[in-house]
Amino acid sequence: MENKKSVIIAPSILAADFGHLLDDVKKIEGEAELLHLDVMDGHYVPNISFGIPIVQSLRPYTDIIFDVHLMITNPLDYFEAFAKAGADIITFHIETVDDPSGAIQKIHALGKKAGISVHPDTDVRSIFPYLADLEMILIMSVYPGFGGQSFMPSALERIHAVREQLDLIGSEALISVDGGISEQTAPAVIKAGATALVAGSAIFAAANPEEAIRRLKSCAG
Ligand code: DX5
Ligand code: ZN
Repeated sequence: MENKKSVIIAPSILAADFGHLLDDVKKIEGEAELLHLDVMDGHYVPNISFGIPIVQSLRPYTDIIFDVHLMITNPLDYFEAFAKAGADIITFHIETVDDPSGAIQKIHALGKKAGISVHPDTDVRSIFPYLADLEMILIMSVYPGFGGQSFMPSALERIHAVREQLDLIGSEALISVDGGISEQTAPAVIKAGATALVAGSAIFAAANPEEAIRRLKSCAG
């Protein structure tokens, strides 16, 4: 029998129309499991996106799980504000903290799920000591900062390495992959061990975003 895999989808609102943001969220909330919110500060990444007010403003209008991806320096200073604004999962970059365990504990103490992300230029093994404490591992498959970039095939072996470690310790944490995800790249990403796909352009630039999500899900076979 074939081993049937499944994958959850996290549309990134970075590719949405910010003038009609709630309308765009409503287009995907029936089909997507998570809403991916990319927070950028112009320091950790060379771009500025949005912050706490957008998270807080959307929160009353949707029950979808908010997957907040912090691409900011000093993320610990902001965990509480994002938690209060309505984040459900808070992901920080390992490169931005001195004490990843302390950061994970702080997110858990706020009653939220913790994710760690790793830049394409950082050795993926740097996150291995923390895997047992995490609910999500976010593997970047582009350089963080911008939507619409091409998928980096080097992400595949990094996903696979994390998959092996999680299986070894019996963790059911999500492996989410972020950047350049499309119907073309998703099959290999899922095969390598991803259980969640972040997609901006592939969903919000599509004529029918819900259909685009279904097509990405069908890449799991
Ligand atoms: C990039 C962000 C991504 C981005 C993905 O720094 O973390 O979440 O929105 O966009 P696409 O799917 O267009 O590559
Ligand atoms: Zn992201």
